[in-house]
Formats: sequence, C-alpha cells, structure tokens
Amino acid sequence: MTHQHAPKNKRGLWSSRFGFIMASAGSAIGLGNIWKFPYITGMHGGGAFVLFFIFCILTVGIPLMIAEMIIGRHTRKDPVGAFKSLHGGGWLLTGWLGVIAGFLILSYYCVVAGWAVDYLWLSLKGTFTVKHAVQVPEMFANLLSSDLSQLFWQAVFMGMTILIVIGGVKSGLERANKIMMPVLFLILLILAGFGLNSPGGAQALRFLFSPDWSKLDPPAMLEALGHAFFSLSLGMGAMLTYGSYSDEETSIPKVAITVSLMDTLVALLSGLAIFPIVFTYAMEPAAGPGLVFKTLPILFSRMPGGSMIAILFFLLLVFAALTSSISLLEVVVAYYCDEKHWDRRKATLVMGGIIFLLGVPSALSNNILKDLHIIGERNFLDSIDFACTNYILPLGGLLIAIFAGWVMSKGIIKGELLKGSDKINLYPAWRFLIRYVSPILVALVFLNKAGFF
Ligand code: PFF
Repeated sequence: MTHQHAPKNKRGLWSSRFGFIMASAGSAIGLGNIWKFPYITGMHGGGAFVLFFIFCILTVGIPLMIAEMIIGRHTRKDPVGAFKSLHGGGWLLTGWLGVIAGFLILSYYCVVAGWAVDYLWLSLKGTFTVKHAVQVPEMFANLLSSDLSQLFWQAVFMGMTILIVIGGVKSGLERANKIMMPVLFLILLILAGFGLNSPGGAQALRFLFSPDWSKLDPPAMLEALGHAFFSLSLGMGAMLTYGSYSDEETSIPKVAITVSLMDTLVALLSGLAIFPIVFTYAMEPAAGPGLVFKTLPILFSRMPGGSMIAILFFLLLVFAALTSSISLLEVVVAYYCDEKHWDRRKATLVMGGIIFLLGVPSALSNNILKDLHIIGERNFLDSIDFACTNYILPLGGLLIAIFAGWVMSKGIIKGELLKGSDKINLYPAWRFLIRYVSPILVALVFLNKAGFF
C-alpha cells in the first residue's frame, strides 16, 4: 500500500483517498477490537467502561488522529524525523517513544495473532463442531500449554508481516483490504445477530450499555483511555507515518472521523457477538485474554453453516491483525529508512527478526514462563501490553497533543486541516479539543490513577 507509486518523493504515496482510509482503518481495526475490547470490557464491568471509552474516542482520539496525520503529511517523515524537522530538541523523544512502542507492541501482538492463525488452522480442520460447550475453553488451554505451537504460529505471523512490509504491499493488499474489511463487518453483524437472539442476548445488551458508574474506578478509566489509543493506533506515530504517505488533496479530518467511527463500531459489534454467549452459557465475563477464543467457537458449533463461518471469521481476524501489524512494523522501518538510510528490505528483515525474538518471552508466558509475573499478577505478555497501553501510548498521545496544540505553528496546522475540506471549518473545535480537553483529560486520568484525588 505504501510504496507502490512512482514517487513524487521517493517515499511513495497512497494510490487514492480511499486507499488511505482503508489502510488507516486497517491499522486501527485489529486484535484490539475483537480480542482486547471484549475482554477488558468484561474485566471492568461493562457499560460504564464502554461509555467512557467512547467518550475518550470522541474527545481525545479523533483530535489526536487528526494531529498525527497533519504532522505526518506536513513533514513527510517518520515520527523521529517529523519532530526533528519541526522543532528538534527534547521533542525528538516523542518520536523515539513511538518507535520503542512499535517494537514492544508488535512483539506480543504477533503472539496473540498467532493464536488466531492456530484457530484458523483448527477451523479448516473442522474442529469447531464440538458437542459440548465446555470443550471449547479446553481447546484454548491446550494451545496455551504448548510453547512450541505458540512459537510456531508467532513465527508464521511475523513472517507474513515481514513479507508484506518488504513488498510495500502493492495493489494486492489494497484490493484485498477493500473486500475483506466489509466482509469482516458483515460476519460480525451476523454473529451479533445470532448472539442477540440467544437467551443471553438481553443480558449482554444490559451489560454493555447500561452503566454502573461505581465500576468506573481509576484503573478502569486508565484502561479505557489507553485502549482508545491502542484501538485507534495512536500515541506512537503510526497514524503520523500513514499520514506522511497521504496526498495533498485529502481532507484529514474526514479520514480521521471515518476511521474512528468504523473502529468503534467494530469493537461494539464484537462485544455484541461475544457477551450473549458469555451469559447464555453462564461463563465469566472477566475471563481475561482468552475470552474471544473461549466463546465464539461455541456459536460456530451451534449455528447453521457454522464451520464455514468459523473459517471465514478466523481468516478475517488474521487479516485484520495483519493490516495492523504491518503498520506497527512500518513505524520502525520508516525510522530506519528515513533516518538511518537503510534500505527497506534490510530494515524490515533485521527489525522484524529482532521484534520476533523480543516476542519469544510473551509466547512462553503462558507455560514455561507462567510464573514470571512482571506487573502484579500479570504474566509477561499481559504486562508488556499493560505498560504499552496504559502508560506509553497515553504519554505519547499527551506529548503529541501538547506539541500540536501549543508548539506547532498555527498557520501550518490550519493550512493542513482545511485542505480538501469543503464547507465546515473544524479548526476552532479541533484546536479547543487538542489544546485543552485532550491534555487535561489524559493528565487527570494519570493523576487519578496515581492516587492524587
Ligand atoms: N489498533 C490496533 C488494534 O486495535 O489491534 C493495534 C495497533 C496498531 C496499535 C498500530 C498501535 C499501532 F500503532
């Protein structure tokens, strides 16, 4: 996607505005929506968490996505290069933080995506025609108990990510994206429809949308805020990097709003597919990271055409994970290509290899390394995920918001923001949100978690 066009500059551009939207939506929509959103919603008690998450998307996520894309398009650089060329000094650290987050997030992202590849394989073998719902969680436990399988699938997934990033994606994936994303959406709609018609449907709706504010404690608020960043790929320069490949005519606010709404909708649909099963089979909403793998296969074994739908679902899940993982690797690769002048192939192979190794402890964290607790009771994988989502991304986002709202020239931003947009002038609203609302909200949530009030 990124590099196919005869370069206006040698970095390449998206082939169209639609290509840009699909690539950004591809980055945003991934394991965060289908694997992570339901399980953290379950752990934090449902409704209030969901509503606060949506509030964060609207007040912090969308303005920040606009800011990142503007910085990227204006500088046409990787995150470090962008801050260097705009200001330099300590702001470089913001770019660096992004590159480091890319390393860390991709390391465990490939492990979880590996679980999805394993499930795709199982569904191809027709394994999901189980008789008893209790067998389904056992299957997941089997996967986690095998370090070798997890390493194998992690390697397969990393291999696919590397191949795509080396190839510069070309029209193949751009075309596939245009078909796969709508199909994923449709399948989720069907699953949610089935779910809502099951006995646990009404309880799931209540769980997801009727808030019990007493459950929204400081850790839940931080997790919701952090997940808004994770889910929208913000706070580490991924959207900045993708913005740097955008043409001059595209309206960035339109892209950012479209992508954010699509992303939120996919997360909610996943919740609507998964929680009815949780309640129908009296499972535990707070079951943790295995939730999606322990629930949906039950639905597949019960619905007509379920084994076909299972194949399609896991294929699309792997695809959604791939379109996100390539954006994570792209942040790191863009840095080595732009700043260190490595060629793309070398940067992708070397960095992909290092990130794979960095992910090995995460792959082993459910078995050999299961007693290695890093943060509280969390194992290695969950700890890195927790640290990235709850601290690194919001901190990166806070810095980018301050930079865009207070440091960058007003003229540059206004020019970029208004390009390609017709009637509505979003600049005043955006400026208010990015200068005051986003930084204050992030700071308050941090302080709240730290116990200041
Ligand atoms: N947004 C992706 C998801 O929800 O799965 C994860 C992600 C991709 C996070 C790219 C950060 C990023 F830069």
